[in-house]
Amino acid sequence: MNAPDAPVMDAGATVDHGAFRTVPLAPLVGARIEGPRLTELDEAGVLALRRALGVHGVLFAPRQHLDADEHKRVASWFGEALERHPFGRTLADQGHPEVLVIQKSPNAGRTTTTDVWHHDVTGREHPTQVSVLQAVQVPFGADTMWASTAAAYERLPYALKMLFLNLDVEHDTLYGLLRHGQIRSTQRIVHTAEQAERATHPAVVRHPVSGRLCLFVGNAWCRRVVDCTADQSELLMRLANDMSRVPELQVRWSWRPGDVAIWDNLATTHYGVSGDSGVERLLHRVSAWSPGVRPSLDRASAVRELMAAGA
Ligand SMILES: [Fe+2]
Repeated sequence: MNAPDAPVMDAGATVDHGAFRTVPLAPLVGARIEGPRLTELDEAGVLALRRALGVHGVLFAPRQHLDADEHKRVASWFGEALERHPFGRTLADQGHPEVLVIQKSPNAGRTTTTDVWHHDVTGREHPTQVSVLQAVQVPFGADTMWASTAAAYERLPYALKMLFLNLDVEHDTLYGLLRHGQIRSTQRIVHTAEQAERATHPAVVRHPVSGRLCLFVGNAWCRRVVDCTADQSELLMRLANDMSRVPELQVRWSWRPGDVAIWDNLATTHYGVSGDSGVERLLHRVSAWSPGVRPSLDRASAVRELMAAGA
C-alpha cells in the first residue's frame, strides 16, 4: 500500500473530495462521509479516502450494508493483509475467517467486553493498522467512542511528554482478557495462552503516515511498563489512559444497521459503550495490517524534538 500524502486539509471544514465529501463531527477526530457507497469508489477515490482517514482518524459511512466480500475489499485498501483473529468468533463457517464477530448477548449484563479504552490487538508485534467495523444490530445507546491519540500526547505537559517518550509497555492478550473478566473457563484460558500474543511497544509511537507522535497506551491489553513495578505501572498507565476520557479529544457515533466506521488503530483509541439494554449487540469487523508496519519510535530523535520545542 502506498502511503498517502501528509494531510493538508483543514479538519474543521467540510471538504469535497470529488467522489465524496467529509463532514467533521468534532474538531480533533472523526468525520462523516457523504457520497456513494464505499465500494463504488475508484482508485482516486480510495486514495482520497486514505488521505481523509489520515486527517480525521476515524471516518463514518452511514448505511453501507456491505456483504462480507465487500467488507473485506474495503478493509484491503488499508493494509497488505487482512487479520485472522486467533481465538475470536469469525464467519469462517461461511468462508470468511477475516470477518470477526463482535457480539454481546442480552444476558451478558455488565460484563466488560469492548467497554474499555483500547487499541485493537496490541498484544501482537504487528497490530492492525486500520479496522472497518459494520453494525448489524446495536441497542439504543450502545455507541462507540474514539479519541485522538496524537492530540492526547500533544496535550500532555512537557514533563509527562518526556516521561512517556522514554517508556515501553508490555501488551498481553491473555492478561487483558483475564483482567476484564472476559474469559473464565480453564479450557479457554489454556487455548488463549497457547496463542502467546505478547509484545512490547513504545508508550508513544510515531505515526507512519502523519509523522505525528501518538500516545499508545490502552486499558485492555497493557500489562505493565517495562522496568517498573506493578504499582508504578498502574499509576503510569492510568495517567496515559485518563487522556482518552477528555471530551475535547473524542467523537461518538450512534449506530444504525449497516453503518460503517473506519479507524486508524494508532491515531485513535476507542471504547464500545455496552448499552446494557437487554438487546444483543452485534457488529462485524475486518482489519488490515502490514508485515512491515509496527508501532515504533526513534526515541532519541523524538526526545531531541521535544527539547528543541521546549516547554
Ligand atoms: Fe476494539
